[in-house]
Amino acid sequence: MRVLAMESSCDESAVAVLDARKGLLSHELFSQVDLHRIYGGVVPELASRDHVRRLLPLVRSALESAGTTPAELSGVAYTAGPGLVGALLTGAALGRSLAYALGVPAIPVHHLEGHLLAPMLEARPPPLPHLALLVSGGHTMLVQVRGLGQYEILGETRDDAAGEAFDKSAKLLGLPYPGGPELARLALDGDAEAFKLPRPMLDRSGFEFSFSGLKTAVMLAARAAPLTEERRADIAASVQEAIVDTLLGKTLRALEETGLSDLVVAGGVGANRRLRERLEAEAGRRGIHLYFPRLEFCTDNAAMIAMAGLLRLQRGDVAKDLTIQARAQWPLDALQPREAE
Ligand code: KG4
Ligand code: ZN
Repeated sequence: MRVLAMESSCDESAVAVLDARKGLLSHELFSQVDLHRIYGGVVPELASRDHVRRLLPLVRSALESAGTTPAELSGVAYTAGPGLVGALLTGAALGRSLAYALGVPAIPVHHLEGHLLAPMLEARPPPLPHLALLVSGGHTMLVQVRGLGQYEILGETRDDAAGEAFDKSAKLLGLPYPGGPELARLALDGDAEAFKLPRPMLDRSGFEFSFSGLKTAVMLAARAAPLTEERRADIAASVQEAIVDTLLGKTLRALEETGLSDLVVAGGVGANRRLRERLEAEAGRRGIHLYFPRLEFCTDNAAMIAMAGLLRLQRGDVAKDLTIQARAQWPLDALQPREAE
């Protein structure tokens, strides 16, 4: 089986080809970061229009670098949600149409299932069941993963996602969009103990997160005195440490309470070096096995959509009609469970 997949839920246009036996044959990505930077965030209409320009050329080059012809494809997967609905529609319309033209099934994929399954593209895939910390620009959740589509959300954020907390803090420090990686870079020169920022919800039981108060604390710290280069770096390091402490604390508690010892970290914030270091140190101490996607598959990409699409295709879970599916909101735990193979 060989799947062509496309991702267009936000500001990355991406296409990949995955083969069940040979693995990932190609993956291509065009990031719209330069397009949105002057606006300080993603402009949905511009994102949609750019996906329309980029996706088909990416399909051509992904097929070419995979050394495959359209006739060799067994299915076409596309991100059907959650995400920006206009952006989703571009990939969904193209994916659904290509599948129709080729006479193969279309496979609408849940973006977060893609993130969760990204570590399965690596040489050492995680065993089932496991705990997943899913930390992206739009979501922050702890999920108990029992199998394909068997996701029990133990807790999620009440307000901002961890990635959002990074991005909003970065903006307050005058860093360009996208702020997360920029803030992490600035934090390298700062003292993480310079500012005592809150560790929201860490003192409470349960697995809910809340990051919206953090940006207020960052704003106050940034305004309290002239924002020198040193002070900016100190605030960056302190806010990064507060976010990492919170994620780490809740994750370790979830591992303890569930008795699980395998942990997947997925989503854009999973690329954060400090988070990785701290998790690795704790994992070593506690006998926890850690599974990360490679860095480029932490952030949005089509390889993870191809992985989710292939697994769904193998279980016959494909679109039943010609509907172009695009859902801005789509709860992860509404997915249909499939037996693990
Ligand atoms: O998973 P993703 O690419 O898109 C969503 O589905 O949301 O995640 C993007 C988020 C952004 O908030 C970005 O700032 C954050 O991940 N991010 C990082 C780093 N790389 C990406 N945050 C902190 N440190 C990083 N190195
Ligand atoms: Zn994502």
